[in-house]
Amino acid sequence: MFKEVNFHDKKVLITAGADGLGLEMAHVFHDAGARVFVCDVNAARLQDLARERPDIHTSVTDVSDEASVAALFEQVQAKLGGLDILINNAGVAGPTGLVETLSKADWDRTLAVNITGQFLCAREAVALLKQSKAGVMINMSSAAGHLGFSGRSVYSASKWAVIGFTKSLAIELGAYGIRVNAILPGAVEGPRIRAVIEAKAKTLGQPVDDIASLYENQAAMGRMVTARDIANMALFNASEAARSVSGQAIVVDGFTQKLY
Ligand SMILES: NC(=O)c1ccc[n+]([C@@H]2O[C@H](COP(=O)([O-])OP(=O)(O)OC[C@H]3O[C@@H](n4cnc5c(N)ncnc54)[C@H](O)[C@@H]3O)[C@@H](O)[C@H]2O)c1
Repeated sequence: MFKEVNFHDKKVLITAGADGLGLEMAHVFHDAGARVFVCDVNAARLQDLARERPDIHTSVTDVSDEASVAALFEQVQAKLGGLDILINNAGVAGPTGLVETLSKADWDRTLAVNITGQFLCAREAVALLKQSKAGVMINMSSAAGHLGFSGRSVYSASKWAVIGFTKSLAIELGAYGIRVNAILPGAVEGPRIRAVIEAKAKTLGQPVDDIASLYENQAAMGRMVTARDIANMALFNASEAARSVSGQAIVVDGFTQKLY
């Protein structure tokens, strides 16, 4: 381990941390000694986490809801007494379909969670991060945040928006010693990507196994990434070992050049 990777007493907020990548990050940061606060819309999964790791703080929060996010940060202040690291992880897969088939409601909901949610949390977090000695914000984008993604236009648009947001905040906050980066995961093994594959197969009228094989082989490394791969990158990026890395779109995808 780099000697700079020390999270003892670091205060971390992970949005959508009750499941998937957020849960993996909660485990990894907690194991590294951080004080972890997790929010999510899924109250039952938050209760499971609180039972497994009672010193992780939790809150039922919808990141797309302004009042809900304001209440979250009151709890973060009360429980952690500040914040060193915000991980803006919450994001929904959104609809799969050709653009002429998408509903405005699905379009709006995807943007509301994937980019407005990051704005609402960042806006609340900035005052706390400025008080930290080395504030960090990590915004979760996707390989679809630097590549086009047929049938997934609103998801891709939302994840490209995360990059513009990240780079702008890195400039705004650099003078306060706050680093802001985006992580762009490729397809992550797990139930969420399986649902996307099934929806894509339906849209294209092709067998699910054929689409699954395309997803598995779209990276130069010939495999999907794991949740642990992403959590490890977040841990490194949030550590002092990455003290000069800011404003970056960090792709963790085994080198994918085309998304199917
Ligand atoms: N899984 C992948 O293959 C993949 C690939 C690239 C990028 N990403 C991105 O990584 C992030 C995490 O993805 P994941 O696959 O772990 O997600 P997921 O679908 O497994 O969901 C994780 C959690 O998000 C919560 N959530 C949903 N809407 C929320 C809201 N409005 N407010 C708070 N919590 C909410 C869910 O309850 C769930 O517990 C997302 O931003 C996603 O777009 C995922």
